[in-house]
Amino acid sequence: MRKKHIVVIPGDGIGEEITSAAVRILDKVANKSGLTLTYEKHLAGGASIDQYGVPLTDSVVQAAKRADAVLLGAVGGPKWDHVPPEIRAEKAILGLRKELGLYANLRPIRVSPALVEFSPLKAEAVSGIDILLVRELSSGIYYGEKCESRVVGGIEQASDVEIYTVPEVNRIMHLACKAARLRSKQVVSVDKANVLATSRLWRRTANRVASEYADIALSHMYVDNCAMQLVLAPKSFDVIVTNNLFGDILSDEAAVLTGSIGMLPSASLGDGTGLYEPIHGSAPDIAGLGLANPIGTILSAAMLLRHSLGENAGAEKIEQAVDKVLAAGYRTADLYKPGSTKVTTDEMAGLIEAQLS
Ligand code: IPM
Ligand code: MG
Repeated sequence: MRKKHIVVIPGDGIGEEITSAAVRILDKVANKSGLTLTYEKHLAGGASIDQYGVPLTDSVVQAAKRADAVLLGAVGGPKWDHVPPEIRAEKAILGLRKELGLYANLRPIRVSPALVEFSPLKAEAVSGIDILLVRELSSGIYYGEKCESRVVGGIEQASDVEIYTVPEVNRIMHLACKAARLRSKQVVSVDKANVLATSRLWRRTANRVASEYADIALSHMYVDNCAMQLVLAPKSFDVIVTNNLFGDILSDEAAVLTGSIGMLPSASLGDGTGLYEPIHGSAPDIAGLGLANPIGTILSAAMLLRHSLGENAGAEKIEQAVDKVLAAGYRTADLYKPGSTKVTTDEMAGLIEAQLS
């Protein structure tokens, strides 16, 4: 009997609804394939601030380290916007990424044929988009030394430091090149090498790593140009690899090309336990109303099966089930248009589950 243990961290806002939906789907796939999944639920983010006074406790970190995978909903909300910066809800995610050594964030951006009309771009520009955004996740300006406030010459200032080391760029480049091997073998490395020293080190290192992959075509693009090309020619991209901050920004931009940010999954990988979460936030304004789209989290569960449990067939079944339900016209509130059938978060999970029978 194959057994795997998953830590589930619903977080805040819609986190509870979307992770329950994904667990339901995981259970169904596991059941069908003779896999036993056990779960352990933990608090993080605002929910943990309320309970323990901090967004992430050591016991959650330890549980995550012991697990085979972590499934996370989303954290944060206006209720915790005014807590001191060192205990902000977002620190839960940043802390987990650091503690678990999750240096690579994979954000696949595909447009479901049924949703092409929801893209802000013309249908012909988006149908067929298939991008893998690889974001460096555990270094850069997110983790450099910060100064919230200091007064120099009577003027208040703040600072964030960006540092990248060669080994950090090496490992993310190797991962991007290996991922590209399973796809169209085109890697675009995104930086701001015309201005930033960290970007120049990034670019030199990228070239060195790519020289070990004769089958991979590496090109470089400045981040401002990449932001523009994503709108002008999104289909021209295969793998994009970039640093933590640029990856954060470009992935939201790329996500919205596909119609709804509610659809997109992510996998955060390192040398230990992987963490899986949708790329959207906790949407506190719609929490508990059945309006949330669970598909981003359900597709994250599919990535969990693929990358952490080695269950590729189960992952593919989930992805196909999602496409079928969308093709049949079922939509959560974020994607509803007259002529389609509006369903709640739970109903959407039920429909996807039914496809897995
Ligand atoms: C993301 C999010 C996080 C980030 C926030 C919640 C800290 O925007 O995963 O893209 O900036 O990395
Ligand atoms: Mg983001």
